[in-house]
Amino acid sequence: MKEILEKLEKKRTEARLGGGQKRIDAQHARGKLTARERVELLVDEDSFEEYGMFVEHRCQDFGMADATVPGDGVVTGSGAINGRLVYVFSQDFTVFGGSLSAAHAEKICNIMDMAMKVGAPVIGLNDSGGARIQEGVESLAGYADVFQRNILASGVVPQISVIMGPCAGGAVYSPAMTDFIFMVKNTSYMFVTGPDVVKTVTNEIVTHEELGGAITHTTKSAVADKALENDVEALAQVRRFFDFLPLNNREKPPARPSFDTVGREEKSLDSVIPTSANKPYDMHEVIQKIVDEGDFFETQPAHAANIITGFARIDGETVGVVANQPMVLAGCLDIDSAKKAARFVRFCDCFNIPILTFVDVPGFLPGTAQEYGGIIKHGAKLLYAYGEATVPKITVITRKAYGGAYDVMASKHLRGDLNYAWPTAEIAVMGAKGAVEIIFRADLGDEKKIAARTKEYEDRFANPFVAASKGFIDEVIMPHSTRRRIARGLKILKNKKLDNPWKKHGNIPL
Ligand code: HXC
Repeated sequence: MKEILEKLEKKRTEARLGGGQKRIDAQHARGKLTARERVELLVDEDSFEEYGMFVEHRCQDFGMADATVPGDGVVTGSGAINGRLVYVFSQDFTVFGGSLSAAHAEKICNIMDMAMKVGAPVIGLNDSGGARIQEGVESLAGYADVFQRNILASGVVPQISVIMGPCAGGAVYSPAMTDFIFMVKNTSYMFVTGPDVVKTVTNEIVTHEELGGAITHTTKSAVADKALENDVEALAQVRRFFDFLPLNNREKPPARPSFDTVGREEKSLDSVIPTSANKPYDMHEVIQKIVDEGDFFETQPAHAANIITGFARIDGETVGVVANQPMVLAGCLDIDSAKKAARFVRFCDCFNIPILTFVDVPGFLPGTAQEYGGIIKHGAKLLYAYGEATVPKITVITRKAYGGAYDVMASKHLRGDLNYAWPTAEIAVMGAKGAVEIIFRADLGDEKKIAARTKEYEDRFANPFVAASKGFIDEVIMPHSTRRRIARGLKILKNKKLDNPWKKHGNIPL
């Protein structure tokens, strides 16, 4: 018996070495951790249960019959992050470059199936040369099997991808269908076709990093949500991020005790809005002053910064925050910001996360670039996302809420549950200057008259009281009491029940 046990331990030790010490050293030399080291950092100590450690590929071609490595280039299993269940796969670049064989794909599918059965998130650590070339179409079939599971799991369990090495070709579409993508700077890249093919076809010369690195995808393409400095930081951030999320679509997000008192008043919010309507202020400051301990996990901070999205907690409970940012493009909605926020709102709605919206929006960004780019369709995404969302929705208008953008930003009319306005709110079809130029066109050129008309318009509309008198605002609140109001609102709305009419699925303007 002892011999058998020793044999098992020996086999395990061999399997843990993956592609061997030389390749492990090469991985380290590039500043990358190995697949197992990554898992160890991601999950709680001693929580990882590995499955399929001895799985091998079945390929007989190109001399592969004798070239098997236990585990076949991917470490799979379950673990816990701060005590909560998670399924993980971690591709091992030291084994055939982490390339995906049929057996490798089966291992990933297996943990995805288990995650769906028990209702737990899936985190994929991607570091792979793509389809296992020697396996041909079997490998492509394996990818498709993973894709299908990504699709079925979408909206059922949270799926997170961390790109920690190459991720190229059709392989990019598995992470692309997960909810959030984190990338490591300088060591990871994602592209459908690499620099060599790009050069041949379009004559463009780009590096891997320029074409598909972490900075590219978190600024230009918005494929990824966050760029992290290295493997360790990426995995630490994923752990922090995981704590905001529920395990599945039937559960509420976890509550986390906070040292922050619910009724904390933040007097400085009373003076955060500048006296001039055209002066910006930083909406991050507003968010940080309101949420528990100022802890805000921003998603896509480097893309479409005219809208802020991210997770925070109020009285220990997760909220998804969406906020116009007056510091960037005056907080206008445009194509990128609408797409960014729409996807975020839909994630929150899938996973029972209440949505807290801060509004300071002068309207949609004008211009041919926006119109030709389809702002009509893309703006509709955000409108649609807010309107279909059935989770608790609390909205605070801090300053401008003009035109169609007022409607879009979680207004009462889109089933906002509690819509508050600060006394500095201006809810109108447009700003005073534009309005006067249109409705008092005959007076243009007469400065005195225009000034009087502008004042008349401002007195009438540059406030929240017209909207409040019609019931479109539930209450005009003191800025310093915002946290207390939101906390109370969330408590009241905790067991909100609202169902959309039965349908197979809607047809959001994609
Ligand atoms: C089999 C592969 C492999 C692959 C790498 N290796 N990619 N084996 N299939 N796709 C092996 C190498 O043979 C090598 O084995 C080891 O992994 C490390 O590779 P290197 O080339 O030495 O490493 P590096 O210089 O870091 O380059 C990494 C790389 C490069 C950029 C990923 O290997 C590469 O370009 N690979 C091919 C990528 C590719 O074209 N994949 C198919 C994409 S299409 P040894 O034994 O020497 O250590 C695709 C379609 C998916 O994926 C479709 C889904 C629908």
